[in-house]
Amino acid sequence: MKYFFIAYAIIAALFIGLMPMRGAKSADTPIRLLPDMDEQDKLKPQKPDPFFADGQGARLPVHGTQALGFNAEGASEIGGIPEYEFGGGTGYYATGGVEGYFANGMPEELKLTAENVGAFLKRGEESFNVNCAICHGTSGDGQGITGQFGVPGIANLTQDTYGQAAYPDGRLFYVITNGKGNMGAYKHNVSLRDRWAIVAYVRALQFARKAPYDAVKEAYDKGIATQAK
Ligand code: HEC
Repeated sequence: MKYFFIAYAIIAALFIGLMPMRGAKSADTPIRLLPDMDEQDKLKPQKPDPFFADGQGARLPVHGTQALGFNAEGASEIGGIPEYEFGGGTGYYATGGVEGYFANGMPEELKLTAENVGAFLKRGEESFNVNCAICHGTSGDGQGITGQFGVPGIANLTQDTYGQAAYPDGRLFYVITNGKGNMGAYKHNVSLRDRWAIVAYVRALQFARKAPYDAVKEAYDKGIATQAK
C-alpha cells in the first residue's frame, strides 16, 4: 500500500507539473502525450491540396460512381418509379405495413401494369441474384455459397412458412429492409422499388417450385421472356 501511495504521489506530481505547459508557446517540437487526430492527411473543404496533380482539394465524383439517393442519367424507370428511392415514407410502400399489420400485394405506387410487370420481375431476379442468392441460393432454397462457409440457419424461402398465406409480402419487404438475425438490412443498398421487385421474384421462385412445368413455362414465356427487353 505504501508503494502505491508513493507511485500515486509521483504520477500526480508529474501530471500537475505538466498541466501548466498546455498552451505554452515554444519553438521546439511539442510533446504530445495524446496526439488525438491533430496531425492527419485530409482534404479540407474549399482549400487547395498539393496531393493532386491539379492542386484542387475539391474533387469530382469518381467516374462511373453514383451518389446515394440520386438518379443517374439514364436511370431505368419501371412504372414511373424512380430507380433510387430508399425510403422515408410511412405508408405500405415504404414499410410493408398497413395500420400495424403486414399486408399482401404490390403497392400501388409501383403502378404495375401488364406491360411493365415483366421488366419488374426481371429487375427482381437481378436484384435477388446480386443481393440474396449468395446466402439463399439462386432458387431461394437456402443453399447459397455462404452456408458452406459456416453461416448458420439460412432460411429456405421455398418453404410454406414463407409463402404468401403465412408470410405476407409486407413482412418479406420488412425483413429485406431491416434484416433479421445474421441477415443484414438492405434499406441502404437496395432501393424501395427493387426491394418490392425482390419480393415479387421470391413469390415467383416459390410458385416455380410448386407449379407444374407447363404452368411455369407459360408464365415464364409471358412474364419474363417476352416482356423484359
Ligand atoms: C449473409 C447471408 C444472407 C443474405 C445475403 C440474405 N439473407 Fe435472408 N436470411 C439469412 C439468414 C441467416 C436468415 C435467418 C435469420 C434468422 O431467422 O435469424 C435469413 C432469413 C431470411 C428470411 C426469413 C426471415 C424470418 O422472418 O424468418 C427472409 C424472408 C429472407 N431471409 C430473405 C432474404 C432476401 C430477400 C435477401 C436479399 C435481399 C436476403 N434474405 C439476403 C441470411 C441472408
